Amino acid sequence: MNSKIINFIKKKNKSKIISLTAYSKNIASIIDKHCDLVLVGDSLGSVLYNFSSTKKVTLDMMIEHSKSVRMGVKKSLMVVDMPHNTYRTSREALRNAKKMISKTKCDAVKLEGGIKIVQIIKTLIKNKIPVMGHLGVLPQSATNFKFKGKETKERKTILRDSKLLEEAGVFSIVLECVESSLAKEITKMINIPTIGIGASVHCDGQVLVTDDLIGLNKMKVRFVKRYSNIEKQINDAALKFKKDVVTSKFPTKKHSY
Ligand code: KIV
Repeated sequence: MNSKIINFIKKKNKSKIISLTAYSKNIASIIDKHCDLVLVGDSLGSVLYNFSSTKKVTLDMMIEHSKSVRMGVKKSLMVVDMPHNTYRTSREALRNAKKMISKTKCDAVKLEGGIKIVQIIKTLIKNKIPVMGHLGVLPQSATNFKFKGKETKERKTILRDSKLLEEAGVFSIVLECVESSLAKEITKMINIPTIGIGASVHCDGQVLVTDDLIGLNKMKVRFVKRYSNIEKQINDAALKFKKDVVTSKFPTKKHSY
């Protein structure tokens, strides 16, 4: 395991882990200063491309966005989502994860799922590819986005999967929309950091989609807190630009050759 990942794991029980998503260089370089982990999430499918789910996101899309993000991330761990249908078998996963790492120079990949993908995860880790897990709501296969962990059977499955992923060697697990007391139990039970999104304050860290954080994405979900309204700022700037152009206040001599 490389030292960046070892240091990341050591944050458990010491300090909260901060994570945000980035899909391009400029945003990545701003958030990098404040994050421990920058995630190139396949949420870019719905956020940027208006796809109805993340299922249509391709490996090439993730690679191109990650290459851009790589230019902005200097200090944080950079993790990239392996998109839907790119890790159906160990062979396919290894081929695609190797391509992802070599083309983007990311530090690790993230895969969604529990018991069904344990062997695949083990293959990647055996081949020195660091893997982050993702349990709870799994957008690549979800039929609904209801939080997980209300029913006893579901709780047991997620608990078991957390343990299995830890044993398989993942360095951290994202818990998406997991009931609070279950997220707490998992976080206590495993020795690697849990990163919550809609999974309570009990996780070792938190992740949000940056477009949600800054008010660029209109999606209204319970777990999102908006910290800024960038939409208004962009709108105001575009409006001022339009007025200046219409009234010939821009460009001035200063902006001309
Ligand atoms: O795709 C994504 O952005 C994610 C986060 C929401 C955890 O997986």
